[in-house]
Amino acid sequence: MKIAFSEISVPSTGTLIVGILAGGGLTPTATDVDQRISGALTKALAASTRFSGKKNSTLVLNAPAGLDLGRVLLIGLGAPQEIDKLQMQALGGRVVAVLNQLGEAEAALALDVSEGCALSSEEMVAEAAFGARLAAYRFDKYRTKQKDEEKPTLNALTVMSAKSTAAEAAAAPRLRVSDGVYLTRDLVSEPSNVKYPATIIEDIKELSQVGIDVEVLDEDRMTELGMGAILGVGQGSRRASYIAIMRWNGAAKADEQPVAFVGKGVTFDTGGISIKPSGGMEEMKYDMAGAGAVIGLMKALAGRKARANVVGVVGLVENMPDGNAQRPGDVVTTMSGQTIEVINTDAEGRLVLSDALWYTQKTFKPQFMVDLATLTGAIIVALGTYQAGLFSNNDELAERLTAAGKASGEELWRLPLGPRYDKDINSEIADMKNVGKGREAGSVTAAQLLERFVEDTPWAHLDIAGMAWMKRGDDPTVPKGASGFGVRLLDKLVADYYES
Ligand code: BES
Ligand code: MN
Ligand code: ZN
Repeated sequence: MKIAFSEISVPSTGTLIVGILAGGGLTPTATDVDQRISGALTKALAASTRFSGKKNSTLVLNAPAGLDLGRVLLIGLGAPQEIDKLQMQALGGRVVAVLNQLGEAEAALALDVSEGCALSSEEMVAEAAFGARLAAYRFDKYRTKQKDEEKPTLNALTVMSAKSTAAEAAAAPRLRVSDGVYLTRDLVSEPSNVKYPATIIEDIKELSQVGIDVEVLDEDRMTELGMGAILGVGQGSRRASYIAIMRWNGAAKADEQPVAFVGKGVTFDTGGISIKPSGGMEEMKYDMAGAGAVIGLMKALAGRKARANVVGVVGLVENMPDGNAQRPGDVVTTMSGQTIEVINTDAEGRLVLSDALWYTQKTFKPQFMVDLATLTGAIIVALGTYQAGLFSNNDELAERLTAAGKASGEELWRLPLGPRYDKDINSEIADMKNVGKGREAGSVTAAQLLERFVEDTPWAHLDIAGMAWMKRGDDPTVPKGASGFGVRLLDKLVADYYES
């Protein structure tokens, strides 16, 4: 779907979308449109018993007399003082859904509220454009027989504003963030016969086009570095394992300490020798969503030229059962020198991250490290699919992440860490084991293992197992399937706290 910007006018084709305030109040544009159609809008509002301008409610006026275009779509803005960025994003998403239902190909969106609204009208439309783009995502490259009525129809959205140049400028960085979200969704949606560590490396290399420096550690290099944990996970796969490092240097001070993001990239998780049950196993293609989010985030930050130095590190492996696979009971030595007894080969994400976190901290001495991982099924039991789990050794970082979560709509809920949980991963034979006590606090003990690979760097771990793949489809900016969770959140974290 193409998005264009223009001054406010009444188009001659397609659908004109007009925002209506709570109680049926007309914005300046709505008033203008109403006059041109000899009061048809006011009449429709008076006649409609249900539509009253309530947030994101809609009313369709077909073929209004006096206008050339096909229809006017009224969309509720709610009360002006309640209008905020997330609501405008949701509105943009809702507009896309309604227009596709109507089978519309082109539309123009007119939004402006001057009095009593905290957002400027150009910010309003910029957020709506962002929401519309996020909602328009589809992954249908493998559907060769899709019927016309199954395809999205909307291909052009014109976002109108009295200050269209300012609106376009305000929307530009947000649309670059949506490019990052699209990349993440594409990577996560791809099936694992097409997507594996080496193909993701190729995708990452493409990012050099937007100014990102890419470095790749292959198995030889990881062996030299002593990364026995990540190598152990990959050893049962025919496909080679990699770590990729992406760097974006946008800070005003070139030597400013970077911030770092680390992602779990298990391109398929069978469980290994501790094999998973077959029901639902196909979902494990999204076990690289943490890495996917880091890659999309780097694209977003570079795309909008974020004034920060940022490192993205992803550990890419496939977890397979095989004659060469690691066994339960094996002991691996990590890059840190610490040893891990692998009780369950399905608890592989923490093994990947143990080496990736250690490497990141030692190589870059970052201001902080945030890792993202589809790490535990237990986080879905605890939080469902509405918030991701947050674990941190640093209250300030945890608070900033929580705030960025609220502001971006990608919310986090903090869970505890502590010595009593930590002792549950002590092993009789090695420094630690890769599982805790049965089913107790499974997400916490996973996070405890990660914490053993963090020295005094502020660190946070986001368990996104419940958020990476959306079955609900009820969030207006997140279509069903790969959500791209984490890109908006971490872009906001960087924008609000770490840009010079
Ligand atoms: N990738 C899974 C976690 C997961 C589960 C992600 C559901 C997305 C949806 C992870 O590698 C895993 O298998 N974790 C185990 C840990 C257990 C063996 C200690 C789990 O959660 O069951
Ligand atoms: Mn697993
Ligand atoms: Zn996994």
